[in-house]
Amino acid sequence: MVTEVMTFAIDGLEPQAVTVEADLRRGLPCFTIVGLADRAVAESRERVRAALVNCGFEFPMRRLTVNLAPAHLRKAGPGLDLAIACAILAASGQIPTDHLARTALFGELSLSGELRACRGALAVAEGAQRAGIEALVVPASCASEARLVEPIRVGALARLSGLGAVLAGASDPSEAAATSPASSERAYVPDLADVRGHRGALEALTVAAAGGHNLLLNGPPGTGKTMLARRLPSILPPLSRAEALEVTRIQSIAGLALGGRLADRRPFRAPHHTVSAAGLVGGGTVPTPGEATLAHRGVLFLDELSEFDRRALEALRQPLEDGEVTIVRGQKIARFPTRFSLIAATNPCLCGRGGRACRCSEPELARHRQRLSGPLLDRIDLVVGVERPSSAALVAEPLTTSKQVAERVSAARELQLARAGCANAQLVARDLLAAVNCGEAAAKALARAYDSGGLSARGRDRALRVARTVADLAREEEIGPHAVAQALGYRHENERLGGR
Ligand SMILES: Nc1ncnc2c1ncn2[C@@H]1O[C@H](COP(=O)(O)OP(=O)(O)OP(=O)(O)O)[C@@H](O)[C@H]1O
Ligand SMILES: [Mg+2]
Repeated sequence: MVTEVMTFAIDGLEPQAVTVEADLRRGLPCFTIVGLADRAVAESRERVRAALVNCGFEFPMRRLTVNLAPAHLRKAGPGLDLAIACAILAASGQIPTDHLARTALFGELSLSGELRACRGALAVAEGAQRAGIEALVVPASCASEARLVEPIRVGALARLSGLGAVLAGASDPSEAAATSPASSERAYVPDLADVRGHRGALEALTVAAAGGHNLLLNGPPGTGKTMLARRLPSILPPLSRAEALEVTRIQSIAGLALGGRLADRRPFRAPHHTVSAAGLVGGGTVPTPGEATLAHRGVLFLDELSEFDRRALEALRQPLEDGEVTIVRGQKIARFPTRFSLIAATNPCLCGRGGRACRCSEPELARHRQRLSGPLLDRIDLVVGVERPSSAALVAEPLTTSKQVAERVSAARELQLARAGCANAQLVARDLLAAVNCGEAAAKALARAYDSGGLSARGRDRALRVARTVADLAREEEIGPHAVAQALGYRHENERLGGR
């Protein structure tokens, strides 16, 4: 007798439907799994066998073949255990099969039959909903995560012995014990009130947060660049529900547990400068997402930009431009989303002093400029100098607090969403000048800057988007000349560093 059970395997970041077929027939007792399974799935044989027996079921002493379809899809991870166990129980008549056609199962088994939390429960629930499945059975510890997807019915299972009851729609009596209460506490994020001085850098940080622009902080050591960047999460605009689901799905698949809660903050990723190109944009024989994807909808912070491997930085160009990265491995193509704002910090030169105090030789200065990678710099909209704050500024009251800035940022972002449905940095329009409502005087100022040769066509568009954000922060409908001047000022700093 052949029975079929639905489950899902995570392929990159996408849930793919997998049908587990179990066939029992007379013959010498054996248990084979076929269907392009990876090592973790192949090992599931031993886990399933032990779990069935330890939960009081009988392991059929016949010839048992389990097929995972479609055969062309490589199945990875231990999440198929539960569906395999269920297919065997149904094929051997130990559980009723009435509900199986409308139910999917997902979860890892321990040898004793307990269900273990698995990465990607949210993605599986989304896949199940898209496939029109009515109910999904997952480990109790993943149930709150899967329930974030409505309206699918989620059955929480703590132990394999409760499978029959959960399939019939009853709740597993041990569920309450296994579900950890979702914490509503938000992790502490440092506040901008700690920063003294830096009016210009604070404004640039506000513009970057409001419009989702890329920002480079450039200044001597110990002036507060890292300090400023680390305070960015406290002012980023809130996530919409769709964005929060996207962020939670990525974090869940990457194993960055959120305890079953929906992400309530934009991600902030700060990889060390020794990160490889694959670590930054994703890679590996089975393509896995990198830091750029973990920062999707949030911020990728590269501290000490000039220390990063040049190849790793070059690899960021496509994801920065397209908002996604394509990784090709053999016959497999994986696409990972990478819509983040890039925030970077660097010293002005190798000795770090910059300006007249700089002791670097010409070749050293040239090397530093080269390391910053021109094409990457061209994709950075805002460059600000972070100079030493004066002694008076260091003991003065802070210029602002995160709460005040966050309110301005969030209001400006709402204007953008109402106008174009996206942040200004992502604006794509055939006629950008009209789309951003640029005034006549402002357009002339921009044309002058372009004609003087200091601006590439991409640089012009980027400056225009920044000017739109400056105007949004000032609640101005039309972009005025001062907004363009501020945006061009940020570009001017960029050119001094070697961008175009
Ligand atoms: N503007 C400032 N206001 C208040 N504290 C500051 C300021 N600038 C620096 N500090 C203090 O100095 C410390 C070091 O600053 P930070 O690490 O941000 O410097 P940096 O510019 O990143 O230096 P580097 O180039 O060496 O990385 C901060 O943790 C803070 O205590
Ligand atoms: Mg620093």
